[in-house]
Amino acid sequence: MAIDYTQKIPNNVNLADDRTLQRALEQWQPNFITWWDDVGPEGSTNHEVYLRTATSVDPQGWAVFDYVKMRDYRWGIFLNPADAERQIHFGDHKGEKAWQDVPGEHRANLRRIIVTQGDTEPASVEQQRHLGLTAPSLYDLRNLFQVNVEEGRHLWAMVYLLQKFFGRDGREEAGALLERTSGDANNPRILGAFNEKTPDWLAFFMFTYFTDRDGKFQLAALAESAFDPLARTTKFMLTEEAHHMFVGESGVSRVLQRTAQVMNELKTDDPALVRAAGAIDLGTIQRYLNFHYSVTIDLFGADQSSNAATFYSSGLKGRFEEGKRVDDHVLKGQTYKVLEVQNGQLGEKEVPMLNALNEVLRDDFIKDSIAGIGRWNKVLEKAGLSQRLVAPHKAFNRKIGALAGIKMSPDGRVVSEEEWKAHEAEWLPSPADFAFVASLMGPVLEPGKFAGWIAPPAMGINKNPVDFEYVRFG
Ligand SMILES: [Fe+2]
Ligand SMILES: [Fe+2]
Repeated sequence: MAIDYTQKIPNNVNLADDRTLQRALEQWQPNFITWWDDVGPEGSTNHEVYLRTATSVDPQGWAVFDYVKMRDYRWGIFLNPADAERQIHFGDHKGEKAWQDVPGEHRANLRRIIVTQGDTEPASVEQQRHLGLTAPSLYDLRNLFQVNVEEGRHLWAMVYLLQKFFGRDGREEAGALLERTSGDANNPRILGAFNEKTPDWLAFFMFTYFTDRDGKFQLAALAESAFDPLARTTKFMLTEEAHHMFVGESGVSRVLQRTAQVMNELKTDDPALVRAAGAIDLGTIQRYLNFHYSVTIDLFGADQSSNAATFYSSGLKGRFEEGKRVDDHVLKGQTYKVLEVQNGQLGEKEVPMLNALNEVLRDDFIKDSIAGIGRWNKVLEKAGLSQRLVAPHKAFNRKIGALAGIKMSPDGRVVSEEEWKAHEAEWLPSPADFAFVASLMGPVLEPGKFAGWIAPPAMGINKNPVDFEYVRFG
């Protein structure tokens, strides 16, 4: 199923056959470009970037790599192929045919789900917009821009659904997606983590590791949806998402590799000496991890949620890998353990599983995240160091849900307000940490050269050498 690139908007959804929709999207397109120019990657207009562009949705070979001016990137609408026989496989409608249109009674909830997902895509581009000015290498600069253009395409994916299936409300929501701005006091993005700053490249790598992984879990849950166009569009988004998480995981690995090298050369674990040598000390890396981990797990929402139950039972949003689970896929009468705060202490209680599905998804995310932290620790182990990174306790630094009611140390002790204040700078990045990391930031723009705080990658992109000219400056 090839993608038609002769159209103004590349697509594999026969857009040319739906003139009303085509016109609506062609009216939205220049607004998207204006948004990109205004709050997208700063100073990038004349760069030619070695980018991947989707040309098909066939898992075997779905993209080509070539130099593209980002502004001329072909953002389009690509859905995975339809299966005419597809059935709903969870919730109250289990066994019925998947929906090709939006049932009236689920319209408001589906719109809300799509808008919330759609809002995160441009938000991350906005959060990352200054990073191109301080890239540690051309290789990294290219990866940043790849993530940015694909988040732009993910916005297109959601806007297509809004405009095709939600009439006038959908058009209004599509407009509003370009109006909210990350961190804006008056008109912020919908979710907390997408209003935080991504001030430097360590934050960028943590963001793409943790927060793009939240994207993976949300998209995977939506890929189960009874609303078939949503399932098909999110399935293809997941193909692109894998690279974003790779950028984060390999980015942090390379930072650790460089730090370990400096620690071994100087035979020290003194953060001041590591910093003086131009590398990022492990304590700072751990604090960044603590921040991004805790802010990201808040994205899964309240631990108990009647909306989560409704979304599942009505077939709008499944669980991660719903099809691989061996239970009745209806979940009535089942329970799940959630944490709760009782008299200022942390306890556990069993609640109806349907109400705890945010927590179920959060726990799946946590498992996946911790596996990658284990791979980071291999870097330290291989370098002969005894230090390890750890995920903080689930209740650490939470702002949403029952756990927002307590102060918790990263290792899982309930602490007083005073103790929190006394240790905050050991647990979360401090202004001094940010200032130090900022002082290391680039740019390094010569092919094959890397900033002193990060090791080169083992391989280049698309089998090209590491010193390939990934970005040409116009
Ligand atoms: Fe995305
Ligand atoms: Fe992403």
